[in-house]
Amino acid sequence: MTSINQNLREQTVSLLAQHPRARLYNGDTPLEHLPRLTAELGGAELWVKRDDLTQLAFGGNKVRQLEFYLGQAKAQNADTVLITGAVQSNFVRLAAAASNKVGMACHIQLEHRVATEDPLYHNNGNVLLDKLLGATLHHFPVGEDENGADHALQKLAIELQNQGNKTFIIPLSPGHAPYGTLGYIQAALELQQQFEQIDTCFDQIVVGSGSGTTHAGLLFGLRLLGIDTPVIGVCVRREAELQRPRIAERCEEIAHLLGCASPVGKQDIIIEGQHLAPGYGVSNKNSDEALRLAARLESLILDPTYTAKSMAGAIEISRRLPADQRILYIHTGGTPGVFAYQHDIELAIKDGH
Ligand SMILES: Cc1ncc(COP(=O)(O)O)c(C=O)c1O
Repeated sequence: MTSINQNLREQTVSLLAQHPRARLYNGDTPLEHLPRLTAELGGAELWVKRDDLTQLAFGGNKVRQLEFYLGQAKAQNADTVLITGAVQSNFVRLAAAASNKVGMACHIQLEHRVATEDPLYHNNGNVLLDKLLGATLHHFPVGEDENGADHALQKLAIELQNQGNKTFIIPLSPGHAPYGTLGYIQAALELQQQFEQIDTCFDQIVVGSGSGTTHAGLLFGLRLLGIDTPVIGVCVRREAELQRPRIAERCEEIAHLLGCASPVGKQDIIIEGQHLAPGYGVSNKNSDEALRLAARLESLILDPTYTAKSMAGAIEISRRLPADQRILYIHTGGTPGVFAYQHDIELAIKDGH
């Protein structure tokens, strides 16, 4: 049985209402049971929150985050959005899409984070969509220099300002107001209502942890609402020992942005680092298995960089927990990545036979 603490809900709603939101999708994303995948694993019951279905241009978690970034951009009367991401970044594709929706231009800086010369990686998937959506593309040659990339973007912003544009930067490095996390506090409000509607409690929530915006926002939002379900962040970008302080820092930044005490304790930050290897944007045996099982048993399409790894985490947890436990997996999108990783996916399919 679930019950909503109305006081905490109202407080959370009013904390969020301090910040402008540009609406980019309508309604709640579905919450679905995954019976065939659960049966195959023989462990805890798996459910999925379909944040791959956030409507805008192939959807994904970044749509929720962009609602609050573009809310700010609109409030500041910006006309041009600047953003950095990996070559196959879903965030930059969705920033281009969101900019179109609110009538702003979008400049994308692609950082070269994955060591591959594969033409599909450099031209298909998200890159093709960035171009189709009309964004202007720039390149940053390094993939592990967040401050350097932000500095380059600031230089570009100054050039654009000199040409008469009003710019708004979505920064890559931590230490900035984490507007995107507010989208996942909003998601926590949505989930709370859905838990009540289906009258179901979850024992664990599993989510990919990259920049940490989704993980920190969701964790913060659930704790603000008085929901103490463990949230397991599966590393998709960097090692666990780097990700843990990053999530802690993000939570402090959220508290500062909202002007409230952080409800997140040290023990709330749970990081699962074993599914990242060999590194960002490169698949492994378990992520290949997750990609295959999700597609073949539930027709759930995952991508090799993010969701196959986070699902590998959910699968591993499901296998080791008893059947009376329930896990909620957050599907964060990334669908266009499938078309940039054709060769890896073909290998994953072959290995499954
Ligand atoms: C599909 C997908 N899932 C998960 C993530 C990780 O989310 P976050 O950066 O909020 O940690 C990303 C980040 O780019 C993503 O594109």
